Amino acid sequence: MSEQEAIVWHQHSVTKTSRAALKQQKPAVLWFTGLSGAGKSTIAGALEVKLAELGYHTYLLDGDNVRHGLCRDLGFSQQDRRENIRRIGELAALMVDAGLIVLTAFISPHRSERDMVRQMLPETEFIEVFVNTDLAVCEKRDPKGLYERARRGEITQFTGIDSAYEAPLHPDIDLPAGDATLDELVQHCLDVLQNRGIVAK
Ligand code: ADX
Repeated sequence: MSEQEAIVWHQHSVTKTSRAALKQQKPAVLWFTGLSGAGKSTIAGALEVKLAELGYHTYLLDGDNVRHGLCRDLGFSQQDRRENIRRIGELAALMVDAGLIVLTAFISPHRSERDMVRQMLPETEFIEVFVNTDLAVCEKRDPKGLYERARRGEITQFTGIDSAYEAPLHPDIDLPAGDATLDELVQHCLDVLQNRGIVAK
């Protein structure tokens, strides 16, 4: 018997259903994906403010912040990015189990990793949000000066420059984030959440 097989899942009495019922909400993960500088954290942050104003219990997990703590030992190789997303996925799934509406903002450049997270959750509780901003727009914004450094070769494996970004083929929400206002983008997310019964009409 492997060490893994010797660990038995413990079923607790307070359940996901009862925790969600106490909060009077349907838990879910809103998984924002897109290039660096696309607007993931900004849009997820503005949506979280709206949800909190409406009385929902939320938590926002953000790439730059998580990489200071839980994932501080990880870099940007394919393997490390996969481990980064695996940990975030497990963490988000636990938060959903706690009854929260979780928003995540990670580049998560590979379809296989996003699909891995999708598999960790019931089908209706993983909502993929594609922050669809052209590389040229992100590079022009360059809020942290990282694209410039990547073009100079000071940073390697930078997504969009010398590391691939695989756009979602069928995102649940496709945000034209280079062309619309923040309010419009947040409203679009809210409309979808209403249609899915996560936010009350
Ligand atoms: S992911 O690819 O593993 O999902 P994550 O979202 O956690 O990435 O972190 C991305 C952030 O790290 C970027 O917004 C940027 O600020 C910073 N960063 C530093 N180096 C890189 C790199 N080589 N590629 C992409 N982002 C990088």
